[in-house]
Amino acid sequence: MSNILIQAENLSKYYHLGDQKIMVLKDISLSINRGEFVVIAGNSGSGKTTLLSVLSGLDRPSSGKIIMGDKDITELTEDQLAPVRNTMMGFVFQAFHLIPSLNAIENIMFPAELRKDPKAREKAQSLLDQVGLHDRGKNFPEQLSGGEQQRVAICRALINDPEIVFADEPTGNLDSENSAGVIQLLVDLHKERNVTLVIATHSQALAGRADRIVRLYDGSIEEG
Ligand SMILES: Nc1ncnc2c1ncn2[C@@H]1O[C@H](COP(=O)(O)OP(=O)(O)OP(=O)(O)O)[C@@H](O)[C@H]1O
Ligand SMILES: [Mg+2]
Repeated sequence: MSNILIQAENLSKYYHLGDQKIMVLKDISLSINRGEFVVIAGNSGSGKTTLLSVLSGLDRPSSGKIIMGDKDITELTEDQLAPVRNTMMGFVFQAFHLIPSLNAIENIMFPAELRKDPKAREKAQSLLDQVGLHDRGKNFPEQLSGGEQQRVAICRALINDPEIVFADEPTGNLDSENSAGVIQLLVDLHKERNVTLVIATHSQALAGRADRIVRLYDGSIEEG
């Protein structure tokens, strides 16, 4: 098995705004190894979220391709892509994106239930235990602190045992104490599970823990 998990080739992405064409990613080629922890850095508006969305197949590039494992995900239809996203990838967002009408356990179980995993509840409880929230399973999102909500969201991202977790500014809505907790949790998960982590962030503290930093500048990348 090749050590490369994601190979992005000549990615470009532009948005149309009225009759204006806004070029956000310009001919980016990038490869990410299995088990690597990569931070995507860059100023606000430099295209971090766009790059993450395109790499994970949440959005399509304007040109170029993305090979994930042995699949060219740019060639898949939305129906073909959805199960790949659900089983191979986990997602963590700045605003947590938990479902308000489901409690913590049910939120975590959700991606596993989509694939009818009979062990969904058991796995969700075990993940909650691991992130120090064993007694919070019945709390609804509004009954959890921001840091706790993000820990639940990280459990949800892990429930299908993904090969790769994408996170967009995972500490962006947290105070410094909760940020430090979430950063440590991500670092531990990376070490323990050998999961590939791709995180877009402004946080120097988070970037400092990465194996590699990819910096976006004027639509292109600089490494190091
Ligand atoms: N749907 C869209 N339509 C038009 N322009 C867009 C769209 N989404 C993003 N942009 C523009 O693309 C550029 C990159 O946006 P993006 O959200 O990727 O930046 P970012 O690096 O994640 O910024 P931040 O650090 O503030 O989250 C910005 O100039 C933004 O205004
Ligand atoms: Mg962003």
